[in-house]
Amino acid sequence: MSNYHIKHLEEYYKVYRKSIREPENFWEEIAEEHFVWRKKWDKVLDWDFSKPQIKWFEGAKLNITENCIDRHLATRGDKTAILFEPNNPDEPAEHITYKQLHQRVNQFANVLKEQGVEKGDRVCIYVPMIPELAISLLACARIGAIHSVVFAGFSSTALSTRINDSDCKMVITSDGSYRGAKTIDLKGIVDEALEDCPSVKTVLVAKRIKSNINMKEGRDKWLQPLLDNASTVCDAEIMDAEDPLFILYTSGSTGKPKGMVHTTAGYMVYTAYTFKNAFQYRDNDVYWCTADIGWITGHSYIVYGPLANGATTVLFEGVPSYPDFGRFWEIVDKHKVNQFYTAPTAIRALAKQGTELVGKYDLSSLKVLGSVGEPINEEAWHWYNDNVGRKKSPIIDSWWQTETGGIMITPIPYVTPTKPTYATLPFIGVQPALMDEKGDELKGNQVEGRLCIKFPWPSIARTIWGNHERYKETYFSAYKNMYFTGDGALRDEVGYYRITGRVDDVIIVSGHNLGTAPIEDAINEHPAVAESAIVGFPHDIKGSALYGYVTLKDAGESRDHNNLRKEINQIITEHIGPIAKLDKIQFSEGLPKTRSGKIMRRILRKIASNEMDNLGDVSTLLNPEVVQSIIDNRL
Ligand code: WT7
Repeated sequence: MSNYHIKHLEEYYKVYRKSIREPENFWEEIAEEHFVWRKKWDKVLDWDFSKPQIKWFEGAKLNITENCIDRHLATRGDKTAILFEPNNPDEPAEHITYKQLHQRVNQFANVLKEQGVEKGDRVCIYVPMIPELAISLLACARIGAIHSVVFAGFSSTALSTRINDSDCKMVITSDGSYRGAKTIDLKGIVDEALEDCPSVKTVLVAKRIKSNINMKEGRDKWLQPLLDNASTVCDAEIMDAEDPLFILYTSGSTGKPKGMVHTTAGYMVYTAYTFKNAFQYRDNDVYWCTADIGWITGHSYIVYGPLANGATTVLFEGVPSYPDFGRFWEIVDKHKVNQFYTAPTAIRALAKQGTELVGKYDLSSLKVLGSVGEPINEEAWHWYNDNVGRKKSPIIDSWWQTETGGIMITPIPYVTPTKPTYATLPFIGVQPALMDEKGDELKGNQVEGRLCIKFPWPSIARTIWGNHERYKETYFSAYKNMYFTGDGALRDEVGYYRITGRVDDVIIVSGHNLGTAPIEDAINEHPAVAESAIVGFPHDIKGSALYGYVTLKDAGESRDHNNLRKEINQIITEHIGPIAKLDKIQFSEGLPKTRSGKIMRRILRKIASNEMDNLGDVSTLLNPEVVQSIIDNRL
């Protein structure tokens, strides 16, 4: 029997039990039957969460692009691998077949080599959602270079921090990007970032908007002429199972962003296997994930997972609101999309438009709807189910993280009965645990606690680039021998999980993971600001929005508060990006602090969320009097 494709609930339980009782045998069978290896492993799993050290398929040799591209050539060379849908609906879609993808990745890989990129070098990719983005990831993987994709909506400061953290040798970018009616000068942002990045020797520039940009002599090169001269043959570099495949940065509650390191074999096996099952992908289906490849969702479920299964994956350049809010549905109709994967924030924004636009299109091709990035609220769930799925496509509310590499808790469509707002059951091989504050595991059902994972799965991030101590501290120190997710969750009477949200100082705004500390650091750079604290509060569309409490150095000084607010958001945009802008900024004379001087964010969070009646005991604060004044001036 092949366990690769699960079709019934009994089968899920059976396969799940096997994956828990004999994880090594289980994953070995999956790896053995469904992938191509240059050499098989010596050992399936070696792990120790106390170090922490995790190795899957040690000793194996492979190249992930041979699994994502070459092995499909014989059977589906002329099938569309990447279906590119441009920002402008009048521009024709581009169908890139597996054969063409093979040639284009090889050409790109040869260009990287010619430009001096070697196995193990880091390459920063700051490219909008155009085919070159997916191709550049694969080209790096082809030659064993480690890609570090930075979402092309991040600012120049955020970009240079990430380039410097992993000493990237090269940046791949474009002359600009289209986003709805706007064009964005990406290359200008790169130029600014690079003033501060000594490791970067070369910048490759893809042409997209054909604008007149500045090209720095000796450093910047147009990509296309190099590709035109490159050979379409490039042997894949033979990689070890545990060689790094990529670095992807995610915000922490404190400090600089964490460069999560994912390695080759385990990541490939797990993303491919989850893709097949969580979306019930069948040959000839058209699959579309609306995320940006700049996030883990795009890495795992636009590029690697789908291509490893020989799927057709849609790559959409634009935004849901351009030229109107019917754009997503128009694309589903036009390309007869079968699986559609998006974020609750997008669903809420589209639901706000009513049902007229969504009703205009033929959505009957849809078989599976996915949701990811934050808890999906009941209202959005029903709107999605009724108007997009027309009550016949199961919604998979999939919970996972940049760190987990792949989907961890999710219904399997047509297998697991769904329940609104519940991510339902652990995926095959995943062993969740709920922990109480004392560090004990909560057994049985109907319990709520902090979500941990007890046993390694193949695509867990192996370290934080350059800072293994921080990796240990962040994920393996809160609970002994457990991976701590940072989320809270409950388990209901039948064992279904519902994710209740972050339990640390990470706030999820429109599905983007934002740490409070870096935003506070940015605000504190404003010369008038003494101190600041950021909390999240409920928001109709974004899920959570940011509320900032700011104290000024000279509170008596009569500054125009609205101007200050603009300046503060400007600084945040420059340091992090527009996604981290504050919705509300309240100036206050002080911030509530503990006697040891720590800001009591819990109180500020309650005030921002209008839950003043259960603030708890404030009398032990250093400065209880500021609480009332903050409440009185609440925005
Ligand atoms: C955090 C991870 C995984 C891809 C996108 C986000 C939250 C994610 C869900 C969900 C409730 C969710 C968690 C998690 N989250 N999916 N289905 N239900 N919360 O990756 O940026 O690393 O963020 O997103 O809080 O810890 P990320």
